[in-house]
Amino acid sequence: MFASQIHLKNFRNYRETTVTAPPGLILVVGPNGAGKTNLLEAVHFLALGRSFRTNRDRDLVRLGEDALSVRATVQSACGEQLFALDYGAAGKVAAVNDETIPRLIDYVGTLAVVAFGPDDLALAKGEPAVRRRFLDVWLGQESREYLYTLQRYYAVLRSRNALLARAAPRAEMEPYDHELVAAGATLTFFRAGAASGLAAAAAAAYGELAPEDEDFVVEYDPAVPCDGDEEEIGRAFERKLEEGRGAEERRRQTLVGPHRDDLRLAVKGCDARRFASEGQQRTAALSLRVAQFRLLKKTRGDPPLLLLDDVASELDAGRQRRLADVVAGAEQIFFTATTPPAGIEPDAKIRISEGQIEASG
Ligand SMILES: Nc1ncnc2c1ncn2[C@@H]1O[C@H](COP(=O)(O)OP(=O)(O)O)[C@@H](O)[C@H]1O
Ligand SMILES: [Mg+2]
Repeated sequence: MFASQIHLKNFRNYRETTVTAPPGLILVVGPNGAGKTNLLEAVHFLALGRSFRTNRDRDLVRLGEDALSVRATVQSACGEQLFALDYGAAGKVAAVNDETIPRLIDYVGTLAVVAFGPDDLALAKGEPAVRRRFLDVWLGQESREYLYTLQRYYAVLRSRNALLARAAPRAEMEPYDHELVAAGATLTFFRAGAASGLAAAAAAAYGELAPEDEDFVVEYDPAVPCDGDEEEIGRAFERKLEEGRGAEERRRQTLVGPHRDDLRLAVKGCDARRFASEGQQRTAALSLRVAQFRLLKKTRGDPPLLLLDDVASELDAGRQRRLADVVAGAEQIFFTATTPPAGIEPDAKIRISEGQIEASG
């Protein structure tokens, strides 16, 4: 799929602007602070209902305004579709072909994107929450069932934590325990099932990007043992809850469950977070993104939009060339840089200055 036209209104430093783009490699250039990342962020927001750099939607609205709107005309196997996402006092409201989708969760991920950016280093270096977000953004686009379960899980987790916070009696907790286990087992089972495909795709991508003597291993590190089917996982989860009840009552929060999951990453047999060099960590993070792209392309039967924010500045020339080969399977790539990188022939160029599109074509 590719976006042939993107329209932004009051998004970050854009007042109102329209970008037209062909399929292929679109180079987005301009000085620091011009609005290059903001443009990619707008596409990500339109597709997934969230930014790739903040959880505070409010920050996306142009200062001094109170609502934003992002629209795109998208060409795919389904023909031409118009996607729209507005955000303001009424929250986020999405529409496809001018028809409002009442619940945002039924819309999120209809348009698929994968974003690579400078913050991705945190995938290899940062806290487990970063890798859980990676899993959720990826799997949420693989399966709507996953998204629904994720929403259910976090809703019951919040309720259960509120009960623990006010030291509610155990009898009152019971229905929440039950729901937590049901949704949590489904999530764990889903993540465990997806992890082997991720491991294979990420190892392959790492092999393409890095020197030969390095290898990259990705493993799911679940909070609840994930052997067996969903029912067995559920029983294991129940046992863990039972064992941890005293600790939960003392700490007044839910201490076990997929909200504590992680991915273990190893380069040349060593924990990437603690022992890998920054170059290896960058390659590891990039490999996870490449894997996400290829797996989504396969399950969805259509390549996601690819957003590459400032990646050239992070990679040496060899890795840049190999990255270009790796992402050759994309139909459209938005690629930002402060200066046009040597040796890359874009299909179109968008020049931005201070939130204004100066030239495109
Ligand atoms: N909500 C907002 N309203 C107005 N301007 C904003 C808002 N958020 C960010 N900006 C401006 O956007 C600019 C940064 O844009 P960005 O896309 O990150 O730049 P770059 O081209 O370097 O990627 C900054 O000048 C910042 O002040
Ligand atoms: Mg930027």
